Amino acid sequence: MTAAFIATDRVEARLHTVAPDGKTRAVLDRLWARGRDFLGTELAVMGGAMTWVSERNLVAAISNAGGFGVIASGSMSPDLLSAEIAATAALTRRPFGVNLITMHPQLLELVDVCLAQKVGHVVLAGGIPPGAAIARIRDGGARAMCFAPALVLAKKLVRSGAEAIVIEGNEAGGHIGPVSTSVLAQEVLPHVSEVPVFVAGGIGRGEALLSYLEMGAAGVQLGTRFVCAHESIAHANFKRAFIRASARDAVPSMQIDSRFPIIPVRALANPATERFAARQREIIERFSRGELTQKDAQLEIEHFWAGALRRAVIDGDVEGGSLMAGQSVGLVTREQSTVDILDELVAQALAAIDGRHDGRHWRDKPQPGGAGGRDQVK
Ligand SMILES: Cc1cc2nc3c(=O)[nH]c(=O)nc-3n(C[C@H](O)[C@H](O)[C@H](O)COP(=O)(O)O)c2cc1C
Repeated sequence: MTAAFIATDRVEARLHTVAPDGKTRAVLDRLWARGRDFLGTELAVMGGAMTWVSERNLVAAISNAGGFGVIASGSMSPDLLSAEIAATAALTRRPFGVNLITMHPQLLELVDVCLAQKVGHVVLAGGIPPGAAIARIRDGGARAMCFAPALVLAKKLVRSGAEAIVIEGNEAGGHIGPVSTSVLAQEVLPHVSEVPVFVAGGIGRGEALLSYLEMGAAGVQLGTRFVCAHESIAHANFKRAFIRASARDAVPSMQIDSRFPIIPVRALANPATERFAARQREIIERFSRGELTQKDAQLEIEHFWAGALRRAVIDGDVEGGSLMAGQSVGLVTREQSTVDILDELVAQALAAIDGRHDGRHWRDKPQPGGAGGRDQVK
């Protein structure tokens, strides 16, 4: 038996002792039963795929700790993805998924790689997925999960065969839509019951997790909160930037001119953010002087961030790279093991449930995971 599997057994024992009493845990388990069944996990908590961060180590750690790790395939080739899945499977016996970007030119080949490697769940992200990809995933025996940025699209994706929906609000790290998680949840959760819905964006504590479950979510997805896990391979500089940052430091990238649209990305403001604004202005001036076509100008703008996330996450270039982070970065105060992060979320959710039984607000009780939110000073 490998060390990773021994750790898994210890985690299992710990997860069963987190609950202050069996009744409270039963309430939580009832609330996220659909999500747990769908994912095949102890906790209906997905570790959102983060390019460069969500590789074998973090993904296996999340799954071994009872959550659902998701490999970020980013721009990986089919061969690279195949190797990453095999390496992850060597570190965990528990279910994990793969996130594929729908714009990838080899999307269907990547789906085939997942199927050949017996991945149970494929998450299609980054745009509206083609029906062919959803059908291929399902025909191959895996579960198809899709991101939906609005209720109409959630409904459409369900009709196209999506077996679960992820709604991700504007508070999230990385590429974002315009609507906040709280509003998206109110828009979608009461009206999509055909499939489980997972809520992502801005979730940093168990009370928030619980509130989305109570609104009808099957489970949640967190990204930012896992970046500073011990098992995350993110560079020490990248982690330090997260630990220092407040919610307000995680801002969407700025578009200078509506003729040159950019897909907004939420990241920690750094010198590269400033340079991006200046670079857009310079390119647009060259376009206005007739030195560039609109298409070339657009391409030059898009090129600015090429390789920037890798530079920050892997090389630790926190000045010139992209520090993608959600607003919940304000709740990241230290490095922790993945199992501690998940235990803390569960303990906070349980304390909140417990508080309701005895009529006391959770804030008036000892805090699992220490003071957070309003009392927190970085
Ligand atoms: C550094 C970073 C990289 C990300 N990369 C991806 C990605 O490659 N694909 C994707 O679907 N989502 C990506 N996301 C979004 C996460 O999967 C997740 O949905 C999001 O982080 C949830 O919101 P939170 O950051 O508030 O927890 C990324 C997020 C971060 C912080």
